[in-house]
Amino acid sequence: MKPSKIIFPSRQSSLSQLNRILKGKKYSDARYYILTDENTSQHCLALLISKVEALQESEFLEIESGESNKTIDIASQLWQALLEMDVDSNSIIVNLGGGMVSDMGGFVAAAYHRGIRYINIPTTLLAMTDAAIGGKTAVNIGEVKNQIGFFHSAEIVCIEPDFLTTLPDREYTAGIFEMMKTLMVGDPELYNLFCTKLLNGEALPMDMVKAAAQIKAAVVKADPYDKGIRKMLNWGHTLGHAIESYSLSHDQQPLLHGEAIALGMIGEAYLSTKKLNLDNEEYNRIKNIVSKIINVPQYALGTLPELINYIKADKKKSGNTIYCTLLNQIGEPTIDVAVSENEICDALMNLR
Ligand SMILES: NC(=O)c1ccc[n+]([C@@H]2O[C@H](COP(=O)([O-])OP(=O)(O)OC[C@H]3O[C@@H](n4cnc5c(N)ncnc54)[C@H](O)[C@@H]3O)[C@@H](O)[C@H]2O)c1
Ligand SMILES: [Zn+2]
Repeated sequence: MKPSKIIFPSRQSSLSQLNRILKGKKYSDARYYILTDENTSQHCLALLISKVEALQESEFLEIESGESNKTIDIASQLWQALLEMDVDSNSIIVNLGGGMVSDMGGFVAAAYHRGIRYINIPTTLLAMTDAAIGGKTAVNIGEVKNQIGFFHSAEIVCIEPDFLTTLPDREYTAGIFEMMKTLMVGDPELYNLFCTKLLNGEALPMDMVKAAAQIKAAVVKADPYDKGIRKMLNWGHTLGHAIESYSLSHDQQPLLHGEAIALGMIGEAYLSTKKLNLDNEEYNRIKNIVSKIINVPQYALGTLPELINYIKADKKKSGNTIYCTLLNQIGEPTIDVAVSENEICDALMNLR
């Protein structure tokens, strides 16, 4: 899998850099199809089109926002639309949105004509630091997340912080947690700074966003197909995905992905103190940060078996063994730690 070209703001804005790149010879015959959801159509599309000339003649595709729409049915409708518009191998899908749009658009691009090119223009913090980078594309089956997908990397990922100005606060906060995950496994020093800033209620600088995106890109480059060290980025996700899936199927206002991962990191930090050498102090710091920025929901006690079933359905299990990425210490993840059902139950009980 070819790594994506990632554009960060420098002396020129990221959109100006994208404008220059798409004027190049490599893209002279390209036709563009911009995929949005209703929110990114409203808040982000005009800025993109005004700054990137090559996209001014694009066709548009819009899907409904929300995790419950990241389905094979919606993908199928998009394939149908692409066929009707005679989309061919010179065509490029431009995903303008959060991780839901980039997962969906990447998935559609990966299968259409056995793979056409796509560009990610992430508009959420979570997508800028994580979802838009790394070539994993997927849709959900029922409430079970990301079960059907391809590895197919974006040609370009263009990270333009201007899009964050319209992002709702709750979505921004959810993105902070996915950043926290990356810094915890990838950069202890920056993680310390991140904690200090959050605990003091300070804003996170763009440099930190860039660093998190670069860590993700470097890990993906070293292990594009998730066979080894890329699994370090699953920190928080074994429990987190189960909590997210459970919430999606039970709650009127389900948890966001990043919020569920925050809870997953608390649970897995607890496991890390029991099974590896993570300090209790670090475990407490994670809890403090998470509870400083979100109200941790209380789960009904009757739901443990259902959470366990979601974990078993998740892809991070092989055979009958559940595997987690845990932390030996901050910056020192250990992948493929076998965890028993009892230990998972203990961590989930403790989380409550
Ligand atoms: N492929 C990967 O490697 C990977 C990694 C992490 C997460 N993900 C996936 O990413 C998804 C979550 O992504 P997300 O948190 O970006 O959520 P999202 O794409 O659902 O976006 C969140 C909400 O914000 C709105 N929005 C987006 N940008 C906006 C803007 N600039 N202004 C106003 N509103 C805006 C969206 O319409 C949506 O309602 C999940 O499906 C998750 O599975 C994928
Ligand atoms: Zn995630």
